Amino acid sequence: MSSSKLQAPRGTYDVLPDQAARRETVEDAARRILGGAGYGRIETPAFEATELFARGVGASTDIVQKEMYTFEDGGGRSLTLRPEGTAPIARAYLEHGMQRLPQPVRLWYLSSFFRYERAQAGRYRQFWQVGAEAIGSAEPVVDAEVILLLADLLETLGVHDVRLRLASLGTPATRADYREELQAYLRANEDRLSDEVRSRIHLNPLRAFDADHAGTREVMRGAPLLLDRLTGEDAEHFAEVRALLDDADLAYEIDPTLVRGIDYYARTLFEFTSDALGAQSGVAGGGRYDGLIEQLGGPPTPGVGFAAGIERILLATDRRPVAPPVVDLFVAYETPAGRRTGFGIAREARRAGLSAQVELADRSLKGQLKQADRLRARFVAVVGDEHATLKDMESGKQDEVEPTRVIPLVLRMEKTL
Ligand code: HAM
Repeated sequence: MSSSKLQAPRGTYDVLPDQAARRETVEDAARRILGGAGYGRIETPAFEATELFARGVGASTDIVQKEMYTFEDGGGRSLTLRPEGTAPIARAYLEHGMQRLPQPVRLWYLSSFFRYERAQAGRYRQFWQVGAEAIGSAEPVVDAEVILLLADLLETLGVHDVRLRLASLGTPATRADYREELQAYLRANEDRLSDEVRSRIHLNPLRAFDADHAGTREVMRGAPLLLDRLTGEDAEHFAEVRALLDDADLAYEIDPTLVRGIDYYARTLFEFTSDALGAQSGVAGGGRYDGLIEQLGGPPTPGVGFAAGIERILLATDRRPVAPPVVDLFVAYETPAGRRTGFGIAREARRAGLSAQVELADRSLKGQLKQADRLRARFVAVVGDEHATLKDMESGKQDEVEPTRVIPLVLRMEKTL
């Protein structure tokens, strides 16, 4: 057997304690902004029946065709590590009869997702998203609410150079007609398209807008646009979303060529990018998915939501290290008996609500005091056989006390700070 060192799988990474602090700021902001707007937190399982994504995300999407981690369990069921969160939440909405609650039901999540993608900066195989879903209302005000909450979240977190692109896809019927029109246009110009786009005219003609190929781009400049084909109601819905964003002074660009790699979208579609990121510039995306719940076997139920990539948020914000919190009390010892007493004092401190650390590496007293400095300890107790010295690190004041008096004294001094 080889004894080479094992590493985390390609496209995955460890979150070490010094990075955990920055991630916590994202979670805290999400809890405050989304929780404060009435969204309740939800967590669904890391894996689901494969069929959920085939039906929900769409059988012709890259996600379902190439990117899913699918496996069979011991009972022969086909399961898939969740590549995204909207289909699982729609499943949970149905499974728990949430249509009986006051609508829309508003939920938020911060979870990890899995896609077998080409790993590169900002693109991982296990990545994290913070997202929100509002299910049960078709009102344009809900679209505007989720977009504005996402904009607030990105702004609060200090994501640089953010741009919002906005479009509307209309209803499935409008899309079907438009799809045929676009397919006819692509076929008429087939000889100038890339091989990939040509081979997908039948399966996914909209992806042609996404192509890098020069000839294809040239053809797409003259292509018919879905935004010009919206029905009266869809156009009104879109106009109202835009009016609400205008009232809120949120800048956006209308982008009729906006495409997202998921099939459940209908009507509003949006993406936030950051120029501070390289090739993977998408920080967050979302839209309305009025047909999804029906697709999963439920009654017609509208919904709208977004998801933002945590790694990309962190890449597009200042890399200011978050200062580790100050430790209230560091317990050092002078003698073996003091070590046992000190261990008890640290536990007592934690039970009293203080943050406390105790010497764990058998350092010399000098080494222990250095460690207390490194932790920026507010108080240090040096415990001996029958007495302890409590030192206030800010004022330099020292008191000789009985070991049992250390915690009451720290609590008293803390109160007078
Ligand atoms: P999505 O655009 O596939 O949408 O992903 C949303 C965000 O997740 C992206 O903008 C990006 O920041 C991040 N992301 C996606 N893939 C990766 C990856 N491989 N590595 C790192 N970050 C990644 C959705 O997932 C939809 N469920 C969003 C939604 C919610 N639509 C309606 N509700």
